[in-house]
Amino acid sequence: MNTYQGISWHSTTHRLAAFLLAGVASCFMAGQASADKMDRTINIEWLEQMHREGVALKGDHSAVDALILGRNIPIPYDYVATLMRTPNAFGQGPACIICHSSKDPKVSYRGLDLSTCDGMKAGSTEDPANPIFTPGQKAGKSILGRRLRNNRMPLGVPFNISPNEGAIKTVTDWITAGAPNDENFQKSVLPLFKKKNVFAPNTPACTTCHMSNKEPPSFHEMNLGSYEGIMLGADSVAKGVANATKVVIPGNPKDSPLLQHLFEDRMPPGIPPTEDRDHPNTRILLRWIEQGARCN
Ligand code: HEC
Ligand code: HEC
Repeated sequence: MNTYQGISWHSTTHRLAAFLLAGVASCFMAGQASADKMDRTINIEWLEQMHREGVALKGDHSAVDALILGRNIPIPYDYVATLMRTPNAFGQGPACIICHSSKDPKVSYRGLDLSTCDGMKAGSTEDPANPIFTPGQKAGKSILGRRLRNNRMPLGVPFNISPNEGAIKTVTDWITAGAPNDENFQKSVLPLFKKKNVFAPNTPACTTCHMSNKEPPSFHEMNLGSYEGIMLGADSVAKGVANATKVVIPGNPKDSPLLQHLFEDRMPPGIPPTEDRDHPNTRILLRWIEQGARCN
C-alpha cells in the first residue's frame, strides 16, 4: 500500500508544477516513502490497525483474512508450489500435480503442468491450448478460478458423467444460435431445466434450486424456469438488474456461465460440493494471481 496515496500527482497543485520539478519531487517522495516504510513495519501497522478498529478474529480461518488477505501480504510462489503438490489442499482430493504434471498431453491432462511456475502461467498446451489465468487480473472467474470454485450443475452431478451428452449439446446449440426465444427454445431447451434426471441420472431439476429471483429459496436469485429469468441471470436483486451476472452470452457458449456450470468439473475431480468453495487456500492462490503471479 502506498502511504502517499493522499498526495496525488493528479492534484491541481502538481499539475501546475513544471515537468522538471515534478521529476525532482518524485525522487524526493520516493526516498521519503522508503524511509517511512523502514520505520513502519508490517507488524507495527497491524498492531495499530487492531488498536484503531479492533479486529474480529472469529472462526478457524479468520487469521488468513485478517493477517494475509486483508493486508494483502505478498503470496510467495513457494506456497503455491506447495499447494499444487499437497493432497486435500482445497478440500478432499488428490494433489493437482498428480494429474497435471507436464506439458505432454500423453501423460498430463490437458497438457497442463501445474508443477512449475512457468507451467502454471503457460496453461493448457493440448488443443485447444489456453492460459488458465491472467496475472494481475481478477482471478475468480478465470479458468483456474472456475475449476476451483464452481460446482458442476445440477449440484451433485458426478464427475464421470460425460460433459458432451445430449442435453448439454442442445443447450450449447441454442446459445450458439444466439439464444432466441423461439419454438425450439420453448419445446426443447426450457423443459431441460425443469425436469429431473436430464443432465445426469438421479439429479434434481435445475428449477428445484433456481426457481425465482428470491434467495432463499432460489440460489443466486436465479430463475431457470422462464426465458426472461434465464436471460436476466444471477443476483439481480443483490446487484441490481443492470449488474446481474449474465449466465447466457448469446452466440458465445464458451463464455456463458450457464454452460460452464454444465460441463466444467470442479477440481480435483470428485471433490464433494459440500467442500468450501472459498477455502482459504483457494483464496490465497487466487490472490497470488491477482498480485501478478510472481515466480519468486
Ligand atoms: C485425478 C486427476 C485430476 C486431479 C487430481 C486434478 N485434475 Fe484438473 N483436470 C483433470 C482432467 C481429466 C481435466 C480435463 C477434463 C475437464 O476439462 O474436466 C482437468 C482439467 C483441469 C483444468 C481445465 C484446463 C483447461 O484447459 O480448461 C484446470 C484449470 C485444472 N484441471 C486444474 C486443476 C487443479 C488446480 C487441480 C488441483 C486442485 C486439479 N486440476 C486436480 C484431472 C485432474
Ligand atoms: C441442489 C441445488 C441445485 C441444483 C439442482 C442446481 N443448482 Fe445451480 N447452483 C446451486 C448452488 C448452491 C450454486 C452456488 C454455489 C456453487 O456453485 O456451488 C449454484 C450456482 C449456479 C450457477 C452460477 C450462478 C452465478 O452466479 O454465476 C449457475 C449458472 C447454475 N447454478 C446453473 C444451474 C443449472 C443449469 C442447473 C441444472 C442443470 C442447476 N444449476 C441446478 C445449486 C443448485
